[in-house]
Amino acid sequence: MSASAGALAPDIAAAVAALRAGDLVAFPTETVYGLGADARNPAALRKIYALKGRPATHPLILHLQSADDLKDWVADVPASARALADRFWPGPLTLVLPRAPEVSDVLTGGQDTIAIRVPSHPVARQLLAAFGGGIAAPSANRYGRVSPTRAAHVREEFSEDLLVLEGGDCEVGLESTIVSLIDDLPRLLRPGAISRSDIEAVLGRPVQVGADAAAPRVPGSTAQHYAPQTPVELVRPESLDAAVVAASARGQRVAVLPCPVGSDPSSYGRALYAELRRLDKLGVSRILVEDVPHTPPWDAVRDRLSRAAATFL
Ligand code: TXA
Ligand code: MG
Repeated sequence: MSASAGALAPDIAAAVAALRAGDLVAFPTETVYGLGADARNPAALRKIYALKGRPATHPLILHLQSADDLKDWVADVPASARALADRFWPGPLTLVLPRAPEVSDVLTGGQDTIAIRVPSHPVARQLLAAFGGGIAAPSANRYGRVSPTRAAHVREEFSEDLLVLEGGDCEVGLESTIVSLIDDLPRLLRPGAISRSDIEAVLGRPVQVGADAAAPRVPGSTAQHYAPQTPVELVRPESLDAAVVAASARGQRVAVLPCPVGSDPSSYGRALYAELRRLDKLGVSRILVEDVPHTPPWDAVRDRLSRAAATFL
């Protein structure tokens, strides 16, 4: 994707026009493709919930061009947020902060906090720069389904007439790490490419894992998120052969997603959603996913696999 100085690429110009008109635009980020709307336009934001089939109480992530724009959306920017933004933005990290009063309830699902990130994908950055405002965007998939990591996945999800900006295959392939900084205890709400220890190294203090029991429930923390249509079963490596044999003895056709010896979590994460989509189309009765290592570098992958397999656990 090239943009010559001064002139906007035609697709970016069309996307900006659509956002200004209150329409939705799908765009690539380094994590997954997003379904974007003008974050200051509640009617446009409602279209996101309608198209995804997402409950109105489940908040969206706000995408900004730079950390300098935080002040327009956040009541108070703590030093911890500045430090994480300096280190990881633009990049696959979302911060949950106390919202500014003028932020739409439609964006935050009525909560008094707001989730924000500055994406690094060049097309997302061009779009944000050309639009000149915040873009609210959840992953561009129907509620509860696998996030799209290439433009063709978005077109598969939505048959409707939707402008989809092309940005190739997403480099990370898993949704952003989410860290809550709404009180004195930083919390990792969703693991991602930026790890808990990466966050702890910058903050110089321990980060709790998981939502506070008193916190509102939000999607991604509900079971059976990120799931293909075909049931997914996580199988320990040593039980994989037996599981395949048992399934065929029952007359079931299964697909297997292996975890090859020596595979690294970044490459695995990049390919995972495209693989689940591919296997989902085979018409098999189950997808058997070989379990991945139970070590911290695999936390984000394991989180998504266990959600995809939630109905079987
Ligand atoms: O990588 C990503 O974050 C992608 C790309 C498009 O940026 N977006 C994404 O959005 O994954 P979505 O809607 O699929 O997930 C949004 C997540 C949910 O888990 C939601 O609960 C959480 O962000 N979230 C949003 N606002 C929040 C808030 N105020 N407090 C806690 N969690 C929040
Ligand atoms: Mg999502």
